[in-house]
Amino acid sequence: MMLRDRIRVLLVGSGEIARRVHLPYLLSQPWQPEILVTDRDPSVAERVAVEFGTRAHRGSIASARAQIVVICTPAASHADLAVEALAAGMHVICEKPLAIAAGDARRVAEASRRHGRRVFPCYTNRYRQDVEILRDLLASKRIGRIRELSAQWTRRHGVPGTQGGLAAGVLWDLGSHLADLALHLTGWSGEVTAFAAAASPAPVDEGVAPWYGGTWCGESRPAAENRAEGPAEDTVHALARVAGHGVVRLLVSWNQQGAGDEVCLQAVGTRGVAELRTVFGFSPDRQRIEGPCVRVSDPRNARWQVVLDRQSREPVEYRRQLDVAYASMTGADPPEAADLDVAVRSVTLCDAFARSLATTSSVAATLA
Ligand SMILES: NC(=O)c1ccc[n+]([C@@H]2O[C@H](COP(=O)([O-])OP(=O)(O)OC[C@H]3O[C@@H](n4cnc5c(N)ncnc54)[C@H](O)[C@@H]3O)[C@@H](O)[C@H]2O)c1
Repeated sequence: MMLRDRIRVLLVGSGEIARRVHLPYLLSQPWQPEILVTDRDPSVAERVAVEFGTRAHRGSIASARAQIVVICTPAASHADLAVEALAAGMHVICEKPLAIAAGDARRVAEASRRHGRRVFPCYTNRYRQDVEILRDLLASKRIGRIRELSAQWTRRHGVPGTQGGLAAGVLWDLGSHLADLALHLTGWSGEVTAFAAAASPAPVDEGVAPWYGGTWCGESRPAAENRAEGPAEDTVHALARVAGHGVVRLLVSWNQQGAGDEVCLQAVGTRGVAELRTVFGFSPDRQRIEGPCVRVSDPRNARWQVVLDRQSREPVEYRRQLDVAYASMTGADPPEAADLDVAVRSVTLCDAFARSLATTSSVAATLA
């Protein structure tokens, strides 16, 4: 590609996910994008620009005159920043969750349509090979019609060390991934009744202890100011009935003090059960997970049949997702409009859970 054809990408928010995933990905691309970084704190952007050999941008999103904006800020700011970038004629890659209110997620989707620009939400786990295998299995109807989808993500001791994760709370940090996967795997939409309850926060040392003491994060060990003052709401159970389809059940915990991090997605169908058992994200426990990854019940002999026995130890899904994102932004592949629709639904579901937590009563919503 000629230099004058270089695509300019603006990263908004120069924190952990920008440095760990987005910048290394962009710097490794043969199409050599021109990369600008910005941050609410300009000194952070300057530092990161020097670290990665890119340029810091000061000023509005529009003034960066980029083709693609990557939003890597804490969740509460995603929707406004995405709408601002779309209005300035830019495509958007937005870290999860797309928004933390159903109305905001719809606003982003509407702005995408109105301005004719694409939005790619980074629900990274959709791009795991094991999730794709489970999705194909469910679509094949081997277990019949799905009646129940349970999803559980528990960390032994993995409270986020950054404001980006911590400020959103465990429901939006881990639960937004699971709500998204539940709807991505089942394809469910329609009227929903949701209820959620938080376990009482477990006492942990030094307020909320950071991600594995920072060993996996290396030098990005969280600064003292990023630690919560006291015990955070670290565990949430959530249940939703989707009319005409079935039940979604979630359990998310940052701090279960168990033997290891674990994710389990289980679909109960009219003719059997399919499940995925693994570890998501950058957890060090990915290195030691054993046993089959995806399996399905065999109604003929009441045994499990292994569909995928290999566990993925490297977090390759982060790069896979960005391959898809940039291919759709740069026109190589047509974008999947349905992917954004599912993201809007999953924000709506999480929003219903969040409102239920706040009100301690069930909440009705429409997954449109
Ligand atoms: N896809 C995944 O699996 C995954 C993994 C980790 C984090 N994330 C998401 O990434 C986002 C960021 O998380 P993080 O851990 O990098 O957070 P972080 O706290 O390390 O970084 C966020 C940065 O954004 C800056 N910022 C805040 N508001 C801003 C604004 N309005 N404009 C510009 N800059 C602003 C902050 O100064 C900070 O430098 C979160 O939404 C989180 O959920 C996604």
